[in-house]
Amino acid sequence: MQIQNYLRMKIYILFGAPGAGKGTQAAMLAQKYKLLHWSTGDMLRAEVKSGSPLGKEIDSLISVGKLVNDQLISQMVIQKIIEHKAVEGIILDGFPRTLAQAQILHQALEKEHLKIEKVINLEVNHEEVIQRILLRGSTSNRADDQDESTIRQRLQVYETQTKPLIDYYQHQKTLINIEGMGSIEDIFNRITPHF
Ligand code: AP5
Ligand code: MG
Repeated sequence: MQIQNYLRMKIYILFGAPGAGKGTQAAMLAQKYKLLHWSTGDMLRAEVKSGSPLGKEIDSLISVGKLVNDQLISQMVIQKIIEHKAVEGIILDGFPRTLAQAQILHQALEKEHLKIEKVINLEVNHEEVIQRILLRGSTSNRADDQDESTIRQRLQVYETQTKPLIDYYQHQKTLINIEGMGSIEDIFNRITPHF
């Protein structure tokens, strides 16, 4: 039993609004601590790129800033976790994003005797994230980065469906709030003491 605990995979969550810096910080943390980094947005965009019927359905939602189905995305992530149970740790970026997803994840982890170590919440104001995303949109191919109204729609979805998770994880005593304004390096240095 003790050996099992000692080897238990560590699960971190990078949380925050669209453009808060989840992907940027998760990639740097993954490299420093030798963890896997899984972005659900990247997973979904890969499915879109494959041109599958599922990909087409996903595209119709992502491109207008709406969330995909809770069951679908949760099963994708949980299956991946189970397949990678032997790794040292993972960083989830963009998941969970609704209370339903958080509950599905919690139940699946309990079954596997796993738990979430920390939820890193990057706090950035809306005007800053709009500027960051518009800037990226000028060079990225992301359909949801191109115009301010789609970005505002993503922020609206964040406010109503995702932000309530802050209270949920606060209650679970796993939440760490991090000031997400400033340079990438400064923000990284605020996060690393929690790893
Ligand atoms: P997803 O890909 O997760 O997008 P997002 O949450 O909207 O966030 P971004 O990836 O745009 O931002 P980020 O926080 O990763 O910041 P980044 O580091 O890139 O999801 C896309 C869509 O997929 C969703 O809208 C939904 O439709 C669907 N989806 C995904 N997960 C789902 C789920 N669980 N359930 C249902 N649907 C789901 O930084 C942003 C930009 O700012 C970059 O250009 C970066 O270089 C720059 N930047 C970063 N840090 C700084 C800084 N400190 N100063 C200045 N610029 C900075
Ligand atoms: Mg991202």
